[in-house]
Amino acid sequence: MLITAGPTREPIDDVRFIGNRSSGTLGIELAREAVNRGIRTTLALGSSVHEPNIREVGVTRFETTADLHQLLLCRVPDIDILVMAAAVADHTPAVRHPGKLGRNETGSITIDLVPTPDLLASVAASARPDQLLVGFALEPADRLAESAQPKHETKHVALIVATPHDTMESSENEATLFPSAALSHLVERSPGQRSKESFAAWLIPMLVQCLRHKANR
Ligand code: CTP
Repeated sequence: MLITAGPTREPIDDVRFIGNRSSGTLGIELAREAVNRGIRTTLALGSSVHEPNIREVGVTRFETTADLHQLLLCRVPDIDILVMAAAVADHTPAVRHPGKLGRNETGSITIDLVPTPDLLASVAASARPDQLLVGFALEPADRLAESAQPKHETKHVALIVATPHDTMESSENEATLFPSAALSHLVERSPGQRSKESFAAWLIPMLVQCLRHKANR
């Protein structure tokens, strides 16, 4: 299993970046639960302040969306399950300024942002049918289903785990699962609000069940 987690950082100049509030803690709990269940697991972690310290989990770090893209291209061929919990930037500065943009030299500045590629969709385009790809979606609580459901089709993944915006910095998790039609009979929709640790204990066995189902088809 490969779990990606935490924020990307997109460089503005050599000292500043555009980041986001993801802590990476859900991914860390998912990795802990996976190894506890005997699953060989790699955790690809962005610039989280949290150290996983989980024996038997291979941890690899990424910084930018481009780094994460390279990492996925290398690792995905060797895995059965990809859990894409990373909070990937939607935009990146068009240029990285060398050195440090100083206030006195520049006055006000405009940073040109260009869209990043959809990493999950590009991985899904060359994935094998026996691999299980899981996407995450951070959506407004009152439009969770209508925003998350279409991401199946756009990203071509078996499962979308949708969480409301305000769970990003919370120690608790409240997720709803949107499975593909082929997996819908296997997947419970929501465990209600619970700790990230308890959510991981709920989700990981369900992913294993979905993988087995794919293998037996
Ligand atoms: N994701 C990705 N590549 C990106 C952005 C997001 O692979 N450039 C992944 C995330 O890791 C997550 C899923 O796609 O698993 C959904 O991310 P989200 O930001 O909700 O969706 P977007 O495709 O960026 O759509 P939007 O922000 O327009 O809702």
